[in-house]
Amino acid sequence: MKGGGGGGKRRWRFLVIGVLVLIILSTLVPLAFLLGLHNGFHSPGFVTVQPASPFDSFSRINATRNSQRDLSVRVHEVLHRFTPVIPKKSDINMVARDTNRTSTSHSKKRGVPVSPAIVAKSSPANKTKTEASYKGVQVNKVNASYKGVQGAIVSADETQRTCQLKYGSYCLWREENKEPLKDAKVKHMKDLLFVARAYYPSIAKMPSQSKLTRDMKQNIQEFERILSEGSADADLPTQVDKKFQKMEAVISKAKSFPVDCNNVDKKLRQILDLTEDEASFHMKQSVFLYQLAVQTMPKSLHCLSMRLTVEYFKSSTVEVEDTEKFSDPSLLHFVIISDNILASSVVINSTALHARESKNFVFHVLTDEQNYFAMKQWFIRNPCKQAAIQVLNIEKLELDNSAMKKLSLPAEFRVSFTSGDNLASQGNRTYYLSLFSQSHYLLPKIFRKLKKVVVLDHDVVVQRDLSPLWELDMKGKVNGAVKTCSVRLGQLKSLKKGSLVDANTCLWMSGLNVIDLTKWRELGVSETYLKFYKQQMSGGGESREAIALQATLLTFQDKVYALDDKWAVSGLGYDYYINTQAIKNAATLHYNGNMKPWLELGIPQYKNYWRKHLNREDRFLSDCNVNP
Ligand SMILES: *[C@@H]1O[C@H](CO)[C@@H](O)[C@H](O)[C@H]1NC(C)=O
Ligand SMILES: *[C@@H]1O[C@H](CO)[C@@H](O)[C@H](O)[C@H]1NC(C)=O
Ligand SMILES: *[C@@H]1O[C@H](CO)[C@@H](O)[C@H](O)[C@H]1NC(C)=O
Ligand SMILES: *[C@@H]1O[C@H](CO)[C@@H](O)[C@H](O)[C@H]1NC(C)=O
Ligand SMILES: *[C@@H]1O[C@H](CO)[C@@H](O)[C@H](O)[C@H]1NC(C)=O
Ligand SMILES: *[C@@H]1O[C@H](CO)[C@@H](O)[C@H](O)[C@H]1NC(C)=O
Repeated sequence: MKGGGGGGKRRWRFLVIGVLVLIILSTLVPLAFLLGLHNGFHSPGFVTVQPASPFDSFSRINATRNSQRDLSVRVHEVLHRFTPVIPKKSDINMVARDTNRTSTSHSKKRGVPVSPAIVAKSSPANKTKTEASYKGVQVNKVNASYKGVQGAIVSADETQRTCQLKYGSYCLWREENKEPLKDAKVKHMKDLLFVARAYYPSIAKMPSQSKLTRDMKQNIQEFERILSEGSADADLPTQVDKKFQKMEAVISKAKSFPVDCNNVDKKLRQILDLTEDEASFHMKQSVFLYQLAVQTMPKSLHCLSMRLTVEYFKSSTVEVEDTEKFSDPSLLHFVIISDNILASSVVINSTALHARESKNFVFHVLTDEQNYFAMKQWFIRNPCKQAAIQVLNIEKLELDNSAMKKLSLPAEFRVSFTSGDNLASQGNRTYYLSLFSQSHYLLPKIFRKLKKVVVLDHDVVVQRDLSPLWELDMKGKVNGAVKTCSVRLGQLKSLKKGSLVDANTCLWMSGLNVIDLTKWRELGVSETYLKFYKQQMSGGGESREAIALQATLLTFQDKVYALDDKWAVSGLGYDYYINTQAIKNAATLHYNGNMKPWLELGIPQYKNYWRKHLNREDRFLSDCNVNP
């Protein structure tokens, strides 16, 4: 789940364009419906019997509707490939129909989906949480006077938590980047317009009320005109307050008549259906776009890679490689698996900067064909003190297992727990675990001559000298890692328990790992992994990533040496509440989670720890408008 480019980039570009078109359509279309555009703007017959589904009423934009449906299906499909998994629409609609016109329409106003079905499918942990989350959804009764929409009370905390379980760190990001749109009055106008429209047909049927009918019509048209011209309070005409009073007076008069309940009921029902649909549709799109931003390499980074590659072939600098250093086991070797130039640069620069003796440090960057030359060129331009840097193209290495020749970055998994009735603890129960990917299992083969390496994930920043890691006595273990006991092996439901030694084993994370390659070879860890991988694979039904995760966990269950906690603080890619002092004191910071520091989405208060280690003066950065 890391920002990776790759061959699918072009496909992504089409998808992005598609989604943008879709968004424009989807904002225009519901608006058109709300304002009654499909019936002609100022025509008097604005209240008609409409089919149940709001989208079905657009006979005039048949083609648009169809393509929207198609795209919507596609968005849905694509979304399914991501974590988090979005609940089916039927889950959401069920609520609206079954609860006697209880409304979740306030969710649209807050932009937060409120739905009872929480699906955190990416989580291998406990999934039985439906009843519990029902409690988190406060329904808002729409009573006959229809004031309810405005006075919706729902605990922001609970909504937030529900959102987080369902959509992951997107919710945090949105909360963080919320720009309050000043449109309270516009919303009030829309509400009044809904109510007036609902009452109008009944009033119009009463012969004795021709004056009220006329007044209502006039007010409705007036509101429609104003709303057609503005969507924020600032757009409203100055004398709008007077219009509110007039409208309210007309409505209250209309309410004093015994009206045909059927009509009002039907109208309100349609409105609710519409807001439901609209809210969930927008939410899905937003999550989708957010996921795109998380997953795809930003355009500027792509530009950087291209420019550097071109530069590499243009320049005739003779490479002075410290070839002997690369395989000298007496030096301190670091391995970074990455396709991201900026990220690798920051890890290496920050490690070298804090090294007691940087000339003893050797860095090996394992990357793919696409980024190989750019990566090389970058480190020629930006040497890091006296450290030696080797860039390796995994696709060109001589390995027996050609299936593993594709670069795979450390994999991240979102794990959420719900402790049943205890909603309050949920905020603390979502984790992003990062673990070894297949590429890690090649290390003993790639670095045949080395005995020990430290593997750093590319979303790490180093703040202390790491040399002491080479003096650790790992007590015969293969992998020195920081453990997190907030998640235990036994809690991961999908793990085939048969191969489990101890269910209480704390989980470990990648990010900073001391690897004893000698021991690794001796114990045949890569072979064990392949065995578990095949074994889990035969179970069937799960994604490759999930299988790889489980195989890695099983492989290392009794081979991890616990590093002291102060070596690493993790969660800077999703957790807004990390203690600042802990961050300052940590030897390494790990930005696991979706909000990587080089992305627009990065958590602002953590970005600077990362950013300050980047040479932001580099000409190529400004040329490509890279400004993380
Ligand atoms: C609307 O689309 C349907 C197919 O979805 C088609 O059968 C019908 O003829 C179209 N109507 C118009 C007016 O284009
Ligand atoms: C809907 O709620 C009202 C009170 O708000 C109640 O009188 C009525 O029986 C309910 N109808 C159904 C079908 O539950
Ligand atoms: C998962 O939920 C079931 C039933 O709700 C419960 O019995 C079980 O203990 C839960 N497991 C964990 C790991 O919370
Ligand atoms: C409807 O809401 C109003 C306040 O908006 C309240 O005074 C009234 O009692 C409610 N009616 C019912 C039937 O709940
Ligand atoms: C996690 O729990 C602690 C106390 O147990 C609380 O102070 C903190 O705010 C919680 N964090 C979140 C994100 O809810
Ligand atoms: C390395 O980091 C330092 C500050 O920590 C910065 O001044 C320098 O430009 C960086 N070098 C590179 C190559 O990014």
